[in-house]
Amino acid sequence: TGAVTMDPGFKNTGACKSAITFLDGEEGILRYRGYSIEQLAEQSNFLEVSYLLIFGELPTAAQIEKFENDIRKYTLVNEEMKNIIDGFPKNAHPMGILASLTSALTAFNPAPVNVAKEDELYDAICKTMGKFLVIATWTFRKNMGYPLNYYDNTKGYVENFMRLMFELPTGPYLRNETVVNALDKLFILHADHEQNCSTSTVRIVGSSHAGLFASISAGVSALWGPLHGGANQAVLEMLEEIQNNGGDADKYLAKAKDKDDPFRLMGFGHRVYKNFDPRAKIIKKAADDVLAELGVNDPILNIAKKLEEAALQDEYFKSRNLYPNVDFYSGIIYRALGIPTEMFTVLFAIGRLPGWIAQWKEMRVNKEPIGRPRQIYTGAPLRDFVEQSAR
Ligand code: CMC
Repeated sequence: TGAVTMDPGFKNTGACKSAITFLDGEEGILRYRGYSIEQLAEQSNFLEVSYLLIFGELPTAAQIEKFENDIRKYTLVNEEMKNIIDGFPKNAHPMGILASLTSALTAFNPAPVNVAKEDELYDAICKTMGKFLVIATWTFRKNMGYPLNYYDNTKGYVENFMRLMFELPTGPYLRNETVVNALDKLFILHADHEQNCSTSTVRIVGSSHAGLFASISAGVSALWGPLHGGANQAVLEMLEEIQNNGGDADKYLAKAKDKDDPFRLMGFGHRVYKNFDPRAKIIKKAADDVLAELGVNDPILNIAKKLEEAALQDEYFKSRNLYPNVDFYSGIIYRALGIPTEMFTVLFAIGRLPGWIAQWKEMRVNKEPIGRPRQIYTGAPLRDFVEQSAR
């Protein structure tokens, strides 16, 4: 076994070889299967990118049509799942409900996926892509007290997200091409990010040969935290707090720099991007486009601009290479689209789903060993048991 090398937070530990995503944090480069994130965001769409991540190549017209049709086969969610969602309090956090419902899917699909059988693996992937989107939107409808909605197999995947969220029995939702396009782009930018916290979680849970739904459910829980996907909700809450307290951005910059104050500027800094977050660059432009198109004039956005400018000039942030990250801008777009703050991390999860699936598949197909980190023990040395009466 030998000496254990400590690396808290796995800052410098490579735990796998992967052919999915290339990331250069110093240069701000992100590529999926060799394609730049900039080109994919501009020229592709979310389902195509999902296919690329999961299967390794951009699909032909026939392949993407088949993929979309095969996902549609699985867009009905077992009606008994509604009993589970009924048991949650109305104000339960959507990410908690999503993790639970994803895990509950294992009860309706108990057979383990034989990854050696290509068709079984393919079906499990399509099933996950179909059902996860539907239950993700159910978390919102539960929160709002709306009747749960069904996927419309005549419409596209991202368009269905908006439908599933906002269409009511009393009338159609207002379909907007710009909104669907912006969401498509956002999902692409979130689709994979190599060995981040939630993806590593999916891989480590899956490494015990736990099923795909169980592994994805663990990924949802990992994503929920404010230092990871939960940051997009935290950004908006921070901006609202600043506004409600008089809009003094400088005060919050000072708080963020104060080492005795646990406050951090949400949406700034990244574990691997130390120059800029390439996703943030693309999203910033998408945010500007959406706000202009929808004619949104939101005081929260002025505060965001102030923080951004101040942090980019401030020595504390400059010397630590803290730049606005993807979550800083995504929250702003979601807000403009009328999506409630508590749903932001659920949108991140929908976007990240193909990445989780691709990484789970790669890990299983490559027959990686069970994940099992080591430790350095710092507890008591051997001591004699003490009877309760003598403690
Ligand atoms: N505000 C103020 N100070 C910060 C911040 C921040 N947002 N982020 C890092 N620092 C400081 C930190 O205090 C430390 O200072 P010092 O060297 O004086 O002790 C230095 O910068 C390095 O920080 P770190 O905590 O060692 O860096 P890390 O790589 O462990 O953390 C991070 C990365 C993203 C968790 C962190 O920057 C953070 O908490 N940011 C805010 C939350 C956030 O926006 N998260 C979303 C990340 S992007 C989407 C995703 O991947 O989920």
